[in-house]
Amino acid sequence: SESDRVGDLIRQMTLAEKIGQMNQLNFEKITTGIEEKVKTGEVGSLLNVTNPVEVNKLQEIALKQSRLGIPLIIGRDVIHGLHTIFPIPLGQAASFDDELVKNAAHIAAVESREKGINWTFAPMLDISRDPRWGRIAESLGEDPYLAGRLGAAMVRGFQGNTLSDPTSIAACLKHFVGYGAAEGGRDYNSTNIPIHLLRNVYLEPFRKSVEAGAATVMTSFNDNDGVPASGNSFLLKQVLRKEWKFDGFVVSDWASMSEMIPHGFAADRKEVASLSANAGLDMEMVSQTYIQNLSQLVKEGKVPIQTIDELVKNILRIKFRMGLFENPFAPIGDPGKTYSQAHLAAAREAAIKSAVLLKNNNQLLPLDKGKKIAVIGPMADAPHDQMGTWVFDGQKEHTITPVKALQTEYTHINYVYEPALAFSRDKNKARFEKAVEAAKQADVAVVFLGEESILSGEAHSLSNINLIGVQSDLLAALQAAHKPVVLVVMAGRPLTIERDLPNADAVLYNFHPGTMGGPAILDLLYGKANPGGKLPVTFVREVGQIPMYYNHNNTGRPGPKNPMKLDDIPLEAKQSSLGNSSFYLDSGRDPLFPFGYGLSYTSFVYTDLKLSADKIQPGQKLAVSVTLTNSGKYEGTEIAQLYVQDIVGSIARPVKELKGYQKISLQPGESKKVIFELSAGDLAFYGLDLIKKSEKGLFNVWVGGNSDSGLKSSFSLQ
Ligand code: IFM
Repeated sequence: SESDRVGDLIRQMTLAEKIGQMNQLNFEKITTGIEEKVKTGEVGSLLNVTNPVEVNKLQEIALKQSRLGIPLIIGRDVIHGLHTIFPIPLGQAASFDDELVKNAAHIAAVESREKGINWTFAPMLDISRDPRWGRIAESLGEDPYLAGRLGAAMVRGFQGNTLSDPTSIAACLKHFVGYGAAEGGRDYNSTNIPIHLLRNVYLEPFRKSVEAGAATVMTSFNDNDGVPASGNSFLLKQVLRKEWKFDGFVVSDWASMSEMIPHGFAADRKEVASLSANAGLDMEMVSQTYIQNLSQLVKEGKVPIQTIDELVKNILRIKFRMGLFENPFAPIGDPGKTYSQAHLAAAREAAIKSAVLLKNNNQLLPLDKGKKIAVIGPMADAPHDQMGTWVFDGQKEHTITPVKALQTEYTHINYVYEPALAFSRDKNKARFEKAVEAAKQADVAVVFLGEESILSGEAHSLSNINLIGVQSDLLAALQAAHKPVVLVVMAGRPLTIERDLPNADAVLYNFHPGTMGGPAILDLLYGKANPGGKLPVTFVREVGQIPMYYNHNNTGRPGPKNPMKLDDIPLEAKQSSLGNSSFYLDSGRDPLFPFGYGLSYTSFVYTDLKLSADKIQPGQKLAVSVTLTNSGKYEGTEIAQLYVQDIVGSIARPVKELKGYQKISLQPGESKKVIFELSAGDLAFYGLDLIKKSEKGLFNVWVGGNSDSGLKSSFSLQ
């Protein structure tokens, strides 16, 4: 059995060999001497080896020349595809499509195994409620239910039915935990997440993905309430191992262990190694405090040998489960599936389903194929930038931009192209006139704006999230052409586009759509496909509204829906005349677009909300049904969303929480009954006593097309 094999091996290992398994090195930086280290068992894992010939050489040494023949586990950041690049995870989350996300991860796994990579550092499950944070791009949004479902789907996609399948790679849940709550949205910053919020929100997607069988977990860079994650035994021992029964292994983030020194949590590298080992951290990424100090720490009795054995067993268990002892090699000579037609088609479908239609005045979209368009803007032909962050292996030569799709596939469209700006930060307005001329010559202007990929991702936070540079000015300048304007945004985060909306008749938000973004966008613009994505994060009006998310607690003084506007405040108004409630004088109470929002070329109507009972007992199920009708002219897909509010709890509860979603495709005029099931378990949370359970009482329930609408009813739990 697996545990016998692990036990047999650990009995034969020297202390040095054990510590070697806990050591992960970056291949890109350490090329000299690496073969010797593999041979002597000083290293258990490498990251960033991408040449399959190199991988095979090193695995051959590990298997045949090291004393005990223990294979390496080879990691890489395969975040939204290896070569065939899918939309950034935040975009994929807008699809609310578990199967699609699972399939994208599977394709990434297939391409990775061809290169000998057998472990990815994904999915990223950090709840992100701050679009200034550059890594929101890599997240699955602001909601624990959505991130949990999609995170589990990604794990299943990467790992397949069994980890030992030659098309599976090990997943890594990151960053454990709280990293997305970095104060002020500044990367690596401290977090201060109180225990109820940690349990009910930030840990939840990790719990679900551990349940889905994730093989590994990565600790985060941040300290929460003073304790850095890589030295946090409560998280690693109590939550992960004891409560969730996780039997994979935990890796630190890049030098997040040695960074406990600047955090002021450890005095030196020796203390780092002692803190992390005793907290239950199995493998160290890059910083090498384990390899340098653990043996001495064991001698001094500061880290018990039993602890080392447990940590190493966790690593070996996964290596056995992955079948690496039998075959760790890349299939050299295989014709390969990288960039295959099937992979590109899946990336195109993913880009279509990740797009969110935010505005469509006078049904401007879909466009009439006979009309001439002016293609304008720096993102219309940006093959590198449309792929987004965390792309090391996706080649821009393979990217199809909207302009390239017009040249190669949509060749019947009459268009004129004027980028106006060379890239998103370009401040040179010299070509604005040309863009206006181009728009004048056309029937419609299609303007591609957004962010270069470098503006989001790790360590790429922004304090201003308006369209960068002079892009808003370009959009405004185009008004002089007096032509309808379609704004197409490609970005790594929700940008503050309120000021741009009056200058666009239609807005299609694509996040960074990946390799096949161009054809996908043209499919949408010309109605070959109908947008169906919904926002996985709240879009704020102004950066000063952050943090703003739909599932917040109520205040004792909830703000009015339409508060007074700044300009309407009478001179010498009295304090109380504005109403002492919770809103911003200048930007109100509401976001620009709520979580779950997204339009379609057709329209959907919800009627007939019915509950199977008005009371349920623990153990019983409640059926919540609605009739959904396609009341428009096009076939379309709606993401029907179920929200619940626990009106009174032992602690204050969110005003709404997503508890279910379903994707329903309907022909024009067609209706379907949509049924959700709720059980008492779905209502459970960590209350005042910090025990997860549902509490009796009254609940509101909504079913609708976004978090700010829907039919409402209520029931009680007895
Ligand atoms: O996986 C990443 C992590 O998300 C951030 N730091 C580096 C790791 C490995 O590249």
